[in-house]
Amino acid sequence: MEPVKVGLLGLGTVGGGTVTVLSRNAAEIARRAGRGIEISHAAARDYDPEHIEGLEAITRIGSDAFAVVEDPEVRIVVELIGGYSPALELVLKAIENGKHVVTANKALIARHGNEIFAAARERGVMVGFEAAVAGGIPIIKALREGLAANHIEWIAGIINGTGNFILTEMRDKGRDFADVLAEAQALGYAEADPTFDVEGIDAAHKLTILSSLAFGVPLQFERCFTEGISKVGALDVAYAAELGYRIKHLGITRRSEDGIELRVHPTLIPERRLIANVDGVMNAVLVKGDAVGPTLYYGAGAGALPTASAVVADLVDVTRALTTDPNNRVPHLAFQPDELADTPV
Ligand code: HSE
Repeated sequence: MEPVKVGLLGLGTVGGGTVTVLSRNAAEIARRAGRGIEISHAAARDYDPEHIEGLEAITRIGSDAFAVVEDPEVRIVVELIGGYSPALELVLKAIENGKHVVTANKALIARHGNEIFAAARERGVMVGFEAAVAGGIPIIKALREGLAANHIEWIAGIINGTGNFILTEMRDKGRDFADVLAEAQALGYAEADPTFDVEGIDAAHKLTILSSLAFGVPLQFERCFTEGISKVGALDVAYAAELGYRIKHLGITRRSEDGIELRVHPTLIPERRLIANVDGVMNAVLVKGDAVGPTLYYGAGAGALPTASAVVADLVDVTRALTTDPNNRVPHLAFQPDELADTPV
């Protein structure tokens, strides 16, 4: 079967990572998806060709993202530009053209998701956004699939890698806030506008998405109480440690008598708690379901390859759903016994 053709918008940190993961793991990904996944078109305003492994496999790279969403060959559009505009116009145009969409853009989903999903439903196309929350942790799939039987009571988590990296370095190495932020930017963890990270806006976007999924309510970003870590000083971190606590930036959403509560803010957590020991760029999300009880998900919350892992997982999902073969639509063990025989275990 012909590989499914993908149009990639953006070749920055996550775009470059997506090209790399798709090229490194092409055979395994194709087996799991039921057919190959090929980036046939890419659009980027500027990118660093020397540092993107697998870039040579893309036949058409240009600068016009609208040309990609208009191309009849492209079946799935991957939006990794970030921000609101032109990302929103591109995603809506792709949907109007009957293309499935995968995006890592939490700001876009949190602010415009209600409109995007209404358009997608109308047109009968899929929109994947696993990479929008908690980087490489498959938390969207956990909520949608693994916990589908549960009445979700609450969610609490560290959902901004940059902020957690800054707090960890301040505590462990006594480093200066601005220094660590500059390093997070150099490592590709921070947002294009890093105030989104340090003022809690990025975490609020992600919490909005989790809350909507968990409680089946529309996205309501405006209702989220938002406080970042920019006012946390070296002394706060040191005093908290002296008293046996860690300062973590948490996103919390739960049902209350007044509706759904949404808040992000720095929190003192006793250091014996698991979540107090989630350090660096790692994220962790706790979900309490009525049947399963508390569950905990942990992994890298930002960075090229972890985030690309989530983007490609969505590409596999969409590709699987496009096939008519029932053996492929229900994910199962993708390896044949003879292949397993050659695999060292
Ligand atoms: N700036 C974000 C973070 C990137 O640091 O968590 C991943 O969403």
